[in-house]
Amino acid sequence: MPNTGSSSPEVPATPPVGLPLWLLAELTYRCPLQCPYCSNPLDFAAQGQELTTAQWFKVMAEAREMGAAQLGFSGGEPLVRQDLAELIGEARRLGYYTNLITSGIGLTEKRIAEFKTAGLDHIQISFQASDEQVNNLLAGSKKAFAQKLEMARAVKAHGYPMVLNFVTHRHNIDKIDRIIELCIALEADFVELATCQFYGWAHLNRLGLLPTREQLQRAERITNEYRERLKAAGSPCKLIFVTPDYYEERPKGCMNGWGSVFLTVTPDGTALPCHGARQLPVQFPNVREHDLKHIWYDSFGFNRFRGYDWMPEPCRSCDEKEKDFGGCRCQAFMLTGDASNADPVCAKSSHHGIILKAREEAEHAHLAIEELTFRNERNSRVIVRG
Ligand code: FES
Repeated sequence: MPNTGSSSPEVPATPPVGLPLWLLAELTYRCPLQCPYCSNPLDFAAQGQELTTAQWFKVMAEAREMGAAQLGFSGGEPLVRQDLAELIGEARRLGYYTNLITSGIGLTEKRIAEFKTAGLDHIQISFQASDEQVNNLLAGSKKAFAQKLEMARAVKAHGYPMVLNFVTHRHNIDKIDRIIELCIALEADFVELATCQFYGWAHLNRLGLLPTREQLQRAERITNEYRERLKAAGSPCKLIFVTPDYYEERPKGCMNGWGSVFLTVTPDGTALPCHGARQLPVQFPNVREHDLKHIWYDSFGFNRFRGYDWMPEPCRSCDEKEKDFGGCRCQAFMLTGDASNADPVCAKSSHHGIILKAREEAEHAHLAIEELTFRNERNSRVIVRG
């Protein structure tokens, strides 16, 4: 879309507040794995007590009443919550479409059957790599890969579509063909090949994770070749390739706009417009103290970046702002220290040089997997202590 480059400070009227159609329930920050690209906050070990079953019931009921239709259970690893089947059952009773986002660690045939009975609609299992050694090294667990394979098959055997997620980065992206072959062998229905986005622990480890442009282009080309082949063979397997922001010239319309559709509730009950917002110097409300109606419509945190009035230049006069909303507030904060700046991914941002430098650094980086900072309690406490 062309940009007029007008310096007019006029901004479109703030659109009416939408409905929180998507509820992401981050049930816990506990996790048996320690992926160095986890999007959980770095200080997760210092967060407050998890919500109880009854408190989650209340959150789900209030969100549903406000129009929420999709409910994702994530974490951490949501399977560590022993009340998961109960939560799923309640979500089903309320009429949600439910998705379990899991590493597969802690899943058993018995639990899959329980979840099915409780009404779970969808299970997505994440893998770290196509080969056992790299997978287990990244996950920080010797048994992870075998367990994931077994559970992916079990999920399908229980009548669910097999939905696999691979986070790709410089240590596994060159094996994209092997990753896709593994998915085909497993008879996966949907495969998300998501190049790492740099939030939380991934941001901390960016130098050791961001692929080079050449790695990325090769991976996309190979994925496209496989797409053609799968289509020609009449395979139902769908490959979704997600490129990292760092190789774009325009930012993504993160969360479809702040406080527009997405509502995240963290393990301790803090309500956020996105999973990364906790790090911003903005006060966010807690479901223990306020009902969701107040949180969504009236709280300062949810209104802070709604609409267009908050935007400085170059977003304010940009004719793409209704499409990308100035990009990602969390990324702007992480990279520039000010969440109201344009996302530096945008080539119009005066901070775009940060992205160019990161690309340049990726060309020369050679950090081994073992040198990454793994997401675990101990490292989180060290970070908290400063
Ligand atoms: Fe928070 Fe993009 S992840 S606004």
